Amino acid sequence: MPDTQTLLHPAPRARVRAIKEYHPPLGSRDALRLDFNENTLACSPAVREVLARISAGDLTRYPEREPVEAIVAQHLGLASAQVALTNGVDEAIHVLFEAFLDSGDELLLPVPTYTMYEVYASATDAQVVTILAGDDLRFPFQRLIASITPRTKIIAIANPNSPSGSIATREQIVECARRAPQAIILVDEAYFHFHGQTVMDLVGTVPNLIVSRTFSKAFGLAGLRVGVLAAPVELMQWIRRVLSPYSVNSVALACLPAAIADTTYLDWYVSEVLVARSEFESALDAAEIRYWPSRANFILADIGTRHREFVQHMLSAGVLVRDRSSDPGCDGRVRITIGTREQMLKAVVALNEALAHIGNEGETR
Ligand SMILES: Cc1ncc(COP(=O)(O)O)c(C=O)c1O
Repeated sequence: MPDTQTLLHPAPRARVRAIKEYHPPLGSRDALRLDFNENTLACSPAVREVLARISAGDLTRYPEREPVEAIVAQHLGLASAQVALTNGVDEAIHVLFEAFLDSGDELLLPVPTYTMYEVYASATDAQVVTILAGDDLRFPFQRLIASITPRTKIIAIANPNSPSGSIATREQIVECARRAPQAIILVDEAYFHFHGQTVMDLVGTVPNLIVSRTFSKAFGLAGLRVGVLAAPVELMQWIRRVLSPYSVNSVALACLPAAIADTTYLDWYVSEVLVARSEFESALDAAEIRYWPSRANFILADIGTRHREFVQHMLSAGVLVRDRSSDPGCDGRVRITIGTREQMLKAVVALNEALAHIGNEGETR
């Protein structure tokens, strides 16, 4: 048996050595989960029925994505050839960067934003250029435009953005696409249902626009791992070359049509969250905690220097929230997912206790 200490192992690419491993703080989540912006209740009952009917035989077959891609395309008002299902939007980001980011290219990234853009970009040979939002955490449109160079290859815009909940307007997105015709404008509409505004209808019309959506948030299917990438056919042909034909599993594919068809459930859940969001804003107002206006199913609150104790105290009250202090420009800020009204009543009680506990040191407005 050779001594494993002295064995030489093959080295990964230099870029991979430089990547920090990303460990989402999942751990034990047996509490009210207001930490990952998921649906906090359940998926549609229609999806549960499909799940109950899946047989062992169904699982023996390789997944066939095309028929479901056609259904999703129709739902989005696009042609099948413009739509690819992916293993969550995470895979969509990964394959997009893989297909388009070369050495010498730049990814423009307004920050703070969703962590995985930077993670996947750092595995490529491209350079990540971050554009820090101001204190209002609004989309830094002017500075983003000013940062475009001939090397700009992708501009990634989460809309609404996380962790701020802020938005880019349709006009701003179209202007980015116009100013950087050599680049792909990725608009990640993971939280679309809570915002209600989209640029999906521009896919195919604006030649460099790509839009992603996820089934992990409003639809309540984060565990199934399904996302959609919508792109002009001319761009999609390259994306499909690096996309695994089987990355969306057959259970997810079986469930999607039912999830999409049950608009009653989706509309109910979204309207519940929107009411709960405004009630939670009132609770933050009453507690004199600063927060950023959000168009998504979460709110970023300025808890201040004792953010760690705050998160711990929320946890001991059975409510998981997400400390975003290590995000650029987010020191002391905690992101709280909005669930149902009933769940948020519990969150407000925990919030007020936690604030009392930390001595209400958060930034007051
Ligand atoms: C902006 C944004 N995009 C994408 C994702 C991930 O989506 P998925 O679960 O489909 O990979 C998230 C998850 O938090 C997100 O916030």
